[in-house]
Amino acid sequence: MRKKIVAGNWKMNNTIEEGIVLAGQINDLVEKAGINGVDVVIGTPFVHLTEVNKIVGDKIGVAAQNCADETSGAYTGEVSVSMIKSTGSKYVILGHSERREYYNETSEKLVKKVKLSLESGLTPIFCFGEVLEERQSEKHFDVVKGQIADGLFNLSAEDFGKVVLAYEPVWAIGTGVTASSDQAQEMHAFIRKTLIEKYGQEVADNTSILYGGSCKPSNAKELFANADVDGGLIGGASLQAEDFMGIISAF
Ligand code: PGA
Repeated sequence: MRKKIVAGNWKMNNTIEEGIVLAGQINDLVEKAGINGVDVVIGTPFVHLTEVNKIVGDKIGVAAQNCADETSGAYTGEVSVSMIKSTGSKYVILGHSERREYYNETSEKLVKKVKLSLESGLTPIFCFGEVLEERQSEKHFDVVKGQIADGLFNLSAEDFGKVVLAYEPVWAIGTGVTASSDQAQEMHAFIRKTLIEKYGQEVADNTSILYGGSCKPSNAKELFANADVDGGLIGGASLQAEDFMGIISAF
């Protein structure tokens, strides 16, 4: 079902102690402020998942930032979907550009990870987006369509309906440069049109498409006001409880 979602991505930040403090602060703010039908998610490093799940109330979901592409066994250093599930987490962020770029996260691996996540009952937040050169050479629509098709279009309409999409132009991630509200809406409308062609109007209308890339309290309102922008995936600004809350209340 299409929802308003604000998801934080802590990336590789915070010790356990720091994470407990931050999660507690976010939880307090959310409890106090009320959140107007927005689903709030916190994406933490694996080692924080159990503790953060204990702290947050039922208004906040917790996400892992990756999962293994196998179920169990001799895969040293990997973390499986069932392990993530057993921490109480409900989401997993997949295909983030940092993983695609630094950890050789291919579409083939993502297909396996999405499938395992869905089988285990985790909601994938599937990320994609073009790099600057691709936008400058006007390939951004093709690139985005390709990433979505390669990672997700093997899914049935029913399974696709369980995935949350996150458009994150790589040139906007961590750079302070945000896509303009028009650029975001243009791409999100294109994504929805792509989904209509593949899965039909109803599935497309029910898909949540988040924007990510230097989203902050000062620009969230304008971004979220767009018809096809259903929320945000927030990196830097999710590391400060007040800033994150400022984005949540931008709806
Ligand atoms: P940013 O990161 O908000 O720091 O740009 C977004 C993301 O990588 O999800």
